[in-house]
Amino acid sequence: MAEPSFLTAVRESYDTVAADYVERVPSPAEMDPLSRAMLAGFAELVRTAGLGPIADLGCGPGRLTAHLAGLGVSAFGVDLSPKMVGLARHAYPDLRFTEGSMTALETGDDELGGVLAWYSTHHTPPQYLPTVFAEFHRTLAPGGHLLWGDYVGDERLRPRQGYGRPVSYESYLLPLDRVVELLDQAGLVVTARLEQEPGGRANRPHACLVARKPASP
Ligand SMILES: C[S@@+](CC[C@H](N)C(=O)[O-])C[C@H]1O[C@@H](n2cnc3c(N)ncnc32)[C@H](O)[C@@H]1O
Repeated sequence: MAEPSFLTAVRESYDTVAADYVERVPSPAEMDPLSRAMLAGFAELVRTAGLGPIADLGCGPGRLTAHLAGLGVSAFGVDLSPKMVGLARHAYPDLRFTEGSMTALETGDDELGGVLAWYSTHHTPPQYLPTVFAEFHRTLAPGGHLLWGDYVGDERLRPRQGYGRPVSYESYLLPLDRVVELLDQAGLVVTARLEQEPGGRANRPHACLVARKPASP
């Protein structure tokens, strides 16, 4: 079956911008302190629960995968863009990075202690988000945690350029309450939320959510 056209656009666009992305986007060490605190708290939750590794879904050049590994938790990355995966493997040869889509993960059921989706779901048209969130739920172990971070709003954007290059992806910004509702419908219970005004790497309002797959009764 042919893949949805948005996946092709995202893959081709991030292949085009991969090298510029690394130059232009702040590294984890340069990120705003509250986002870094959410990442550190998430790593501690996953490490303490001891249920399995973190999958960094939409890992881009792998910097956050490496940041999480540096916080003492096993982590691997998955990205649609072969160029991004190539950069990640080159920069972090000791970590595992694979090509794949969060709409249909190769990871088995209940295998993960954590899922990180960091600024990687906003190119997914809203009608596909239930599929993506169902994949997060399926692959997380009962008691496992999700950290989701992204732009929020109520807008569909069709940028001609990204990171200084032509791109064909679109971006879909949703109100935070809608994201919470979709996670809830997927069976993931939101346990923490942080909403931030534009600043740092984000020129728009942005937010983080921590959610948990309930432990089996
Ligand atoms: C804005 S970048 C964020 C990269 C990384 N998470 C970071 O914060 O540096 C978005 C990344 O998500 C990836 N992506 C978007 N949709 C995806 C999907 N369905 N499956 C896997 N990766 C995806 C893109 O290829 C791109 O590398």
